[in-house]
Amino acid sequence: MALNLFIRAQKHINYHEDKVPQFELPDPLVMQDGTPVSSMEQWTRHRRGEIIDLFEEHVYGARPGEIALSSYQVMEEDQKALGGKALRKQIKLVFKKGDHYLEALVLMYLPHQVDHAPLFLGLNFFGNHTVIDDPQVMLTSSWMRNNFNMGIKEHKATDDSRGQLSHRWAIDRIIDSGFGVVTMYCGDIDPDRDDFNDGIHPFLYREGQTHPQPNEWGTLAAWSWGLSRALDYLKEDPHTSDSKVIAMGHSRLGKSALWAGAQDTRFHGVISNDSGCGGAALSKRKFGENAKAINANFPHWFCDNFKNYNGKEEELPLDQHMLMALIAPRPLYIASAEKDIWADPKGEFLSGVHATVVYKFFGMEGLSGSELPPVDQPIHHRVGYHIRSGKHEVTDYDWEQYILWAQKVLDLE
Ligand code: GCU
Repeated sequence: MALNLFIRAQKHINYHEDKVPQFELPDPLVMQDGTPVSSMEQWTRHRRGEIIDLFEEHVYGARPGEIALSSYQVMEEDQKALGGKALRKQIKLVFKKGDHYLEALVLMYLPHQVDHAPLFLGLNFFGNHTVIDDPQVMLTSSWMRNNFNMGIKEHKATDDSRGQLSHRWAIDRIIDSGFGVVTMYCGDIDPDRDDFNDGIHPFLYREGQTHPQPNEWGTLAAWSWGLSRALDYLKEDPHTSDSKVIAMGHSRLGKSALWAGAQDTRFHGVISNDSGCGGAALSKRKFGENAKAINANFPHWFCDNFKNYNGKEEELPLDQHMLMALIAPRPLYIASAEKDIWADPKGEFLSGVHATVVYKFFGMEGLSGSELPPVDQPIHHRVGYHIRSGKHEVTDYDWEQYILWAQKVLDLE
């Protein structure tokens, strides 16, 4: 069934630059009533809020209430992790409301050589135990999609997937460069399936409600919310309370990292790795994955209102450059991969270009140009960008760029 939908949706995909329609992008620096934004204060106090409202109403959905971290418990701590160069710590975050109970496991590695090291915080696809081959990392008990190659059976994590996605995390490189890394399984917050009775959503339902309203949060928004709750914890932990935290995510988790950083200004910056449609890529280009395809294949990711734009992206009262603009003036890095045309690398780059007006407004350097920069020639401005050779992935090359860029833009002493 899911496969059929995917194949059907693929028929409407454009991969030709000459078939990209003419489109107009709303100016992030013009208020909804047409008046130009004339001060930084107006941007911060008024225009940002307007843009967030637009994304809530039409794309990701609004959170229908508040729910805070109920408690946390440090489950494990080891000063001698990674051959002695790092502290490993595992924390259980607990959320409770009425009969609802949810727990999420946070895994962190912090370098010994730096106090309050800057951190990369990102969700992972298949559990904390997949990001490193470390037998001490705890297995989540949350639902996950079965995956024979990853050793996931009966929707549960097993030891067979230990370290299977370690190539995406460059943990040694991160630690050796004086950064820490923090991760949490996205499915601990909301399992990645079209079911709104699991994960965090039911905590905020009104009496009798079983599904979010058309403008209420989908799974991507729930994951973004989870990133902010992990950040709440980091602010409490004496090792990380003063750390600068960059939200980082790959693909669907890159979409969530962007939305988290857009809303929650406590994030010092955001890295979008191959986030594509509904992430960094401009929707109105209708190149690669489009609204119709993403809503058909992943009906639970966005709010239902986003489905109104299937095949009609030109009618969206916003585009993804405005999501990038919400990160301003904080550092933002957009990364693409040459073979990842499904994610529309050019649309990802242009989003950064069109968000640059806001960075410039703050006196910061963003991106310029109407064509993609050459492959493997990174730009480490306040808005950073690279298109890497190769496919949809997170590679050591990507991390090398993120670290160099973060060292520059975070003003580390
Ligand atoms: C699919 C989906 C993308 C998403 C990607 C991923 O390819 O269409 O939108 O980014 O999965 O998360 O890996």
